[in-house]
Amino acid sequence: MDPKPLVTLANVTKSFGPVQVIKGVSVSVYPGKVQVLLGENGAGKSTLIKMLAGVHQPDSGEIIMDGQAVSLPNTRTAEQHGIATIHQELNLVGTMSIAENVMLGRTPRKFGMVDRKELRRKAREALALIGLTIDVDTLVNELGIAQQQLVEIAKALSIHAKILILDEPTAALTRHETEHLFKVVEDLRNHGVGMLFISHHLDEIAEIGDSVTVLRDGEFVAEVPGSTPEDELVKLMVGRAIDEQFPRQKNSQPKASLILEVSKLGSKDKFKDISFTVKAGEIVGIAGLVGAGRTEVLRAIAGADKYDHGSVRIRNKPLQRGSVEAAIKAGIGHVPEDRKVQGLVLDASVNDNLGYATLQETSRFGLADFSGQKSRAESVAKTLRIRMHDIEQPIRSLSGGNQQKAVFGRWILAQSTLLLLDEPTRGVDVGAKVEIYELMNAITAAGGAIVMVSSELPEVLGMSDRILVMRDGEIAGELDAREATQDKVMTLAARDTDEDL
Ligand SMILES: Nc1ncnc2c1ncn2[C@@H]1O[C@H](COP(=O)(O)OP(=O)(O)OP(=O)(O)O)[C@@H](O)[C@H]1O
Ligand SMILES: [Mg+2]
Repeated sequence: MDPKPLVTLANVTKSFGPVQVIKGVSVSVYPGKVQVLLGENGAGKSTLIKMLAGVHQPDSGEIIMDGQAVSLPNTRTAEQHGIATIHQELNLVGTMSIAENVMLGRTPRKFGMVDRKELRRKAREALALIGLTIDVDTLVNELGIAQQQLVEIAKALSIHAKILILDEPTAALTRHETEHLFKVVEDLRNHGVGMLFISHHLDEIAEIGDSVTVLRDGEFVAEVPGSTPEDELVKLMVGRAIDEQFPRQKNSQPKASLILEVSKLGSKDKFKDISFTVKAGEIVGIAGLVGAGRTEVLRAIAGADKYDHGSVRIRNKPLQRGSVEAAIKAGIGHVPEDRKVQGLVLDASVNDNLGYATLQETSRFGLADFSGQKSRAESVAKTLRIRMHDIEQPIRSLSGGNQQKAVFGRWILAQSTLLLLDEPTRGVDVGAKVEIYELMNAITAAGGAIVMVSSELPEVLGMSDRILVMRDGEIAGELDAREATQDKVMTLAARDTDEDL
C-alpha cells in the first residue's frame, strides 16, 4: 500500500497580472522520498514551490495536508506546518552571524534580553544535524556559497521540517560539495523527511530522485520515475530531442589578429604572473579548482578590480586599470559569477538591464535614443528567447535562468568583441545552454573572442579551443582542446589532492 503524501498541491493555478504561469498542476511529496521538479527556465518550478513556502497563494486549486485543505498565507504558517524552503536565491542576512541567521525569528530570550548562550547552543545543535562544525559566531558574509547553502539547510531542519524544498541547491556547488549535500539528503530520507528538489543537472536526478514531475510552460506534462534516461527527460521538458550538447567546431583556425594580451598580471594574494593572449575567433577556457584565482583574473581584466602588476592590452592598445567604463568602451563584456550581486539591477526593467552598457553609446545629438534602444533590446531578448511578458517588467520577476540570459544579452546588444564569461550557464536549462553555445560560436565566427571560466569540465572541454589551467593563482599549464581530457586538466589543476573540479 502506498504511504500517504505529506502534502499535495492539487490542480493549482497562479497568475501574475494577466499572465497565467501555473496552469492546473498537481504534485505530491511523500515521506522519505525525493520528488523532482523538472522544466525549462521559466516553466514555473520556483513559482510552484513558493505556494508551499507561503510566498504565493494559489488562485485556484488546493494544498492538502493530512487529507485537509490548508491555507499557507505566509512563510511563518508554512514553517508551522513543517515545510522548510531553501530558495533559489539564498535568503541569509550577510551581516549577521550564523547563529543569528539560523535562529532568525525564534531568538531565545531571558528577562527580555537575547539569551546569547542559548542562541549559540541551539544554532550549534542545528549545524550538528548536518555535520557542520563551523564557529556559529562567523558572519555569513565570510562563508562560501556552499557553506551558506548548508547553513540554510541547518536552519530549515532546526524547525523540524517534515518537508524540505530545495530550489536549485547544487547550481553553485562543486561536485565535491554536491556529494556532501546528497549525503545529507540521504540521511533526511532515512528519517522520513519528504523532499522537493529542483535542478538543471540531469545526472543528479537519477542519483537522488525517486520520481520526476515535468512542467512545460506552467503545465503538467508527465510524472516519470527518477531512473528515466536523460534524453527522455529532455524530450519531455523541451518537447524535442537535443542531439548536440557542445556545438563547437574545433578545426576552425583562429584569425591572426590579436584581441587580448595579458602580460605578467599580478594582484596581491590573488594571482601572479598571468600571461596569455586571445586571438579573434578563439574561445579560451580557464579551468581550475574553486579558489584557484580564475574569477579574480577575469574581474581584473574587466576593470571590476584593480591589479598590482602587469598590463592588459586590447587590440594593441593599453587598457586602463580598474575601470569598468574603460573596459566597456574597449569592447569588453563581462558576465560575472554572481548575477544577483554583480550583474543586474534587480528592480530595474529588463529593458534597462539589457541597455545598461549601450544607452550612452547610442545617444543621438546628446539625447539618449530610448525607442531605438528598446527595439534593439526586444530583438536581443527574442534571439536569446528570454521568457517574459513585457520588456518593461522588473528583471527581478524573471525566472533565474532568464535573468542569466539577460546578463549575456547586454553584451550581445553592446556588440562586445571580447566576452569574459564566468560560469555562463549556471542555472540555465539544457536547451538554453545549447543556445548560449551557439551564440558563442556566432560571436567568434564574426571575429569576436571569448574567455570562459567554468567549473563544469565537460563545458570547458566541449566549447574551448584552448584551455588554461590555473592552480593557486598561477597558470599551471595550457592544453589544446583537441588533446585535452578531464584527466589531463585535473592533473594540472590539483597538485597533490584528488579533489574534484
Ligand atoms: N512576481 C512575479 N511577477 C511576474 N511574473 C513572475 C513573477 N514570478 C515569476 N514570474 C513569471 O513566472 C514564470 C515562471 O517563473 P519561475 O521562476 O517559476 O520559473 P522556473 O521554472 O523556476 O525557471 P528557472 O529554471 O529559470 O529558475 C516566468 O515567466 C516568470 O517571469
Ligand atoms: Mg526557478
